[in-house]
Amino acid sequence: MIDDMNITIRQLQIFETVAQQLSYTRASEILFLSQPAVSMQIKQLESEIGIPLFERMGKKLFLTEAGDELLIYARTISQQLIELDDVMNEMRGSERGRLTIAVATTANYFALKLLGEFYKRFSGANISLDVTNRASLLEHMTANTVDMVIMGQPPEGMDVEATPFLDNPLVVIAPKGHRLVGQKNIPLSVLQQETFIMREHGSGTRIAMERFFEQSGYSISSVMEMSSNEAINQAVEAGLGLGIVSRHTLELELALGRLEVLDVESFPIMRHWYLVHRQGKRFTSLMAAFKNLVIDDASTILKG
Ligand code: PGA
Repeated sequence: MIDDMNITIRQLQIFETVAQQLSYTRASEILFLSQPAVSMQIKQLESEIGIPLFERMGKKLFLTEAGDELLIYARTISQQLIELDDVMNEMRGSERGRLTIAVATTANYFALKLLGEFYKRFSGANISLDVTNRASLLEHMTANTVDMVIMGQPPEGMDVEATPFLDNPLVVIAPKGHRLVGQKNIPLSVLQQETFIMREHGSGTRIAMERFFEQSGYSISSVMEMSSNEAINQAVEAGLGLGIVSRHTLELELALGRLEVLDVESFPIMRHWYLVHRQGKRFTSLMAAFKNLVIDDASTILKG
């Protein structure tokens, strides 16, 4: 019975060498073992299998029929071990590999959670992260200075592969106690009378917001421009105006009850987060692992 058999990979390797050489002496030289050690291993193998693997005629050694069969399997197993070694080497290499990514300022709220999870799986990886606005992300893509980018809208007119993996709703925020808080389906015409704190030019959030108002035929005015979402959230909290930000930036503010999301007609502006890389980019296994983690597991990781 196969599962009663107690044969080792080492025994198979020794058998393979003896079978190739058809000589215990030559096999022992190749294996750097003593000749008695080699014949002892073959004897043990034969007794485990229960059939002789070699027969001697005169001075010559021959494989028995069982030996011929075993040789086929021993070679297959050796080949599999070589492949296993290659794969493991590649994986060890990937663990220590480098990964360079850039994420939109707004995506940083969740990107760190994804990176944390990635780092748990590939703790030897050397990861570099640039957190910047959309305009700089586009520069990164053009100059090919990063492996992958997480952004709110794939670049147009550039040869890239972009995969959406997460919703990115933009919402209107107001300070606690603002007169519009609690109103249902606030018309855009009402919003137009408010002043806004906006992200800087070059921000994807800003572009999406401007596009939305342009298409809806309304316009909003800004009192101030700020280049960070935190700054906008704080300014809105301080009563300087309303803001339009990605819901991802609000987790803490909403939990602490510092800000309110207004119920505005046609809102949220539904966008998506994309994982983007240049078309034809040569992927290391570390890069492929990151891409898979983002595309397949982001929703689960971010829920947890
Ligand atoms: P950003 O985000 O506003 O921080 O540039 C990118 C995007 O939403 O496209």
